[in-house]
Amino acid sequence: MASTLYIGLMSGTSLDGVDGVLADFSGRGMRTLDAAFTPFPADLRAELMALQAASANELEREALAANGLARCYAECVRALAAKAPGPVRAVAVHGQTIRHRPELGFTRQTNNPALLAELTGIDVIADFRSRDVAAGGQGAPLVPAFHRAIFGRAGATVAILNLGGIANLTVLGPAQEVIGFDCGPANTLLDLWCERSSGRPFDADGAAAARGVVDARLLDALLAEPYFALAPPKSTGLDHFNASWLDARLDVADARARLRPEDIQATLAQLTANVVAASCRRHAPTADELVVCGGGAFNADLMARLGRALAPSAVVTSDARGLPADQVEATAFAWLARAFVARQPGNVPTATGAAGPRVLGALYPAR
Ligand SMILES: Nc1ncnc2c1ncn2[C@@H]1O[C@H](COP(=O)(O)OP(=O)(O)O)[C@@H](O)[C@H]1O
Ligand SMILES: [Mg+2]
Repeated sequence: MASTLYIGLMSGTSLDGVDGVLADFSGRGMRTLDAAFTPFPADLRAELMALQAASANELEREALAANGLARCYAECVRALAAKAPGPVRAVAVHGQTIRHRPELGFTRQTNNPALLAELTGIDVIADFRSRDVAAGGQGAPLVPAFHRAIFGRAGATVAILNLGGIANLTVLGPAQEVIGFDCGPANTLLDLWCERSSGRPFDADGAAAARGVVDARLLDALLAEPYFALAPPKSTGLDHFNASWLDARLDVADARARLRPEDIQATLAQLTANVVAASCRRHAPTADELVVCGGGAFNADLMARLGRALAPSAVVTSDARGLPADQVEATAFAWLARAFVARQPGNVPTATGAAGPRVLGALYPAR
């Protein structure tokens, strides 16, 4: 009998490293057996950030960064495979998004899945987004089908928020209809400002933001971004919400001269809370709770801001609904790999805007 064990790897726009899970899809249910995190070496992280924008000799630099990524992914796979109770059927690897331009007909997750298959000896399934884009979709978000399978409740509206570099929301309607889209920036701006103002890679537990005071003028300048008012399907990334985006708005609000670093940190956290709350009010008005996953779920200040912005609805982490917050995305890709193996569609056309359901991924066999 074929193995029901899959490894899922997700490295998102926070550029912190790769989250991996070992999941067992035996029988009717799903169980995560183990999880691992492999941080990116600092030079790889810097190069992946640099590759988000046009620059010299990109082809060669991208290929070399992809090799570095594959080695990092392989380390994560080795840690998980060593604890697997049997052979692993396939590794699902998202790759690292360095350009996301569905309106031009492409999205690019840099990766070297052939090297990963070579290094691990396990079948690798990669490139999950391209087929949806080829079918006219955004190629994102791809997690709603998994969210429906795991968090869906018959007859109820369920809202699930992933706080990665970008915040993305899934709304599961009572009749099983699904909306999913990127709300706007989350950790990407929080990390950027924290690193710049304090040298620390992220604002641990949101402590700096919690000390700060939200500035209305800066918040208005940030909220004026037209993306927030667009109707879904929509998706975005670091090619839009990045240092130049932030700097332009800090200038408009004269923020650097007027505000303390922690006030800017607080205002950026409030931006994410307000944008997410507006998305929930518009697209999930009957949801009685928001289930939060992703690294931002560990940011106590951001979670408190979300709670206040969404009251009286409850805000809970996905841990309370059966799956740890830092395992949801990687498990979603393991689930998508299983769908690929069964040749089942992985996209939700109402979320991505694709012409129809499509089987997502490409196989790099181990042998
Ligand atoms: N204890 C914490 N306090 C505040 N933020 C945290 C904490 N742990 C993780 N994070 C945030 O989560 C990010 C990683 O989240 P992740 O879900 O991996 O995002 P992505 O999918 O974009 O890589 C970090 O860059 C950091 O901003
Ligand atoms: Mg990450």
